[in-house]
Amino acid sequence: MTDTIRFDGRVAIITGAGNGLGKDYALELAKRGAKVVVNDLGGSGAGIGASRSAADLVVEEIRDSGGEAIANYDSIATREGGGKVVQDALEAFGTVDICINNAGFLRNNRFEDITDEELDAILGVHLKGAFYVSQPAFHAMRKNNYGRFIFTGSASAMFGHAWQANYAAAKGGLMGLSHIVAIEGSAYGITSNLLMPTAQSRLANQMTEGFMEIPEFVKSMSEADYAASTDRVTVPFNTPLVLYLVSEACTATHGLYSSNSGRYARVRICAAEGWVAPMGSTPPSPEDIAANFDRISNGAVYHEPMTVYDEFTAVAAAAKRQGVL
Ligand code: NAI
Repeated sequence: MTDTIRFDGRVAIITGAGNGLGKDYALELAKRGAKVVVNDLGGSGAGIGASRSAADLVVEEIRDSGGEAIANYDSIATREGGGKVVQDALEAFGTVDICINNAGFLRNNRFEDITDEELDAILGVHLKGAFYVSQPAFHAMRKNNYGRFIFTGSASAMFGHAWQANYAAAKGGLMGLSHIVAIEGSAYGITSNLLMPTAQSRLANQMTEGFMEIPEFVKSMSEADYAASTDRVTVPFNTPLVLYLVSEACTATHGLYSSNSGRYARVRICAAEGWVAPMGSTPPSPEDIAANFDRISNGAVYHEPMTVYDEFTAVAAAAKRQGVL
């Protein structure tokens, strides 16, 4: 198949592109013509230390194959560092078209034992880091009336994983951030989507076995059917979805996408049909809620609001269907 998805002339920032998923995105974008900013602090999978070699090796590999790339070694977990990544992109290549927020590490612990240090470091790199890079990138994209953002979420946040309360809180926050960037970006040709990748990487190797103490969670893990996953929980299986989402061909925005073992799927935040209390200014009682809790929890009709205000329309539709309006 010929490469119809191309990035010639496009400038892509990829944070944490020295290893794992980010490295593969960088190599593949460069192969298809993008000028790439390879950001990586170069620390361990637990976010300890720093080294220039991670970013340098990826830049070298891109240049050796005839591509264009520069390295940036700043930590994105500070406003200065995030700003410097974008500044380097502008100085080297004059603009920013694509921003893939990918950098991160793990510090897992049981919820009740997570320390301030474990909480701050994880919120700092995943949530604040994405904020610090994306704000100046958004400024640059707005000038061109074009931009593509990816925020990297996780099934750990959207679906749940024991011993990752700090990580899931950060990754869940990125869902909200991506929604708002998508809504505000819609005025300027900028799209934003959140990716939930799945890959055996050095990050995955940071998982400790402590969560084995939670019986229901272990049951879900041990009883899962991994039949479709053999040899497919790998980094390269995630990259095609990312490349499509950041391409000109893709105008989809405000979405959450899961990539798992070669299955690519939109993940949706939906509200059930629910139960609408009788019209009028008298609120229902807690007993009314208890009496209708099955309907509140299990309505057959689901609606996916794309803004806060969409939900009001869904409420009116539900009220009409239920004969209270
Ligand atoms: P990785 O450890 O191979 O790569 C992450 C890179 O981010 C590393 O090269 C690291 O040096 C860099 N980094 C860490 N802190 C940084 C900072 N402050 N500034 C700049 N760079 C920094 O991990 P992997 O698996 O490739 O993960 C990439 C992203 O995907 C992460 O956000 C991770 O949370 C997310 N993710 C990964 C999953 C997986 O199954 N591997 C599942 C769900 C999400």
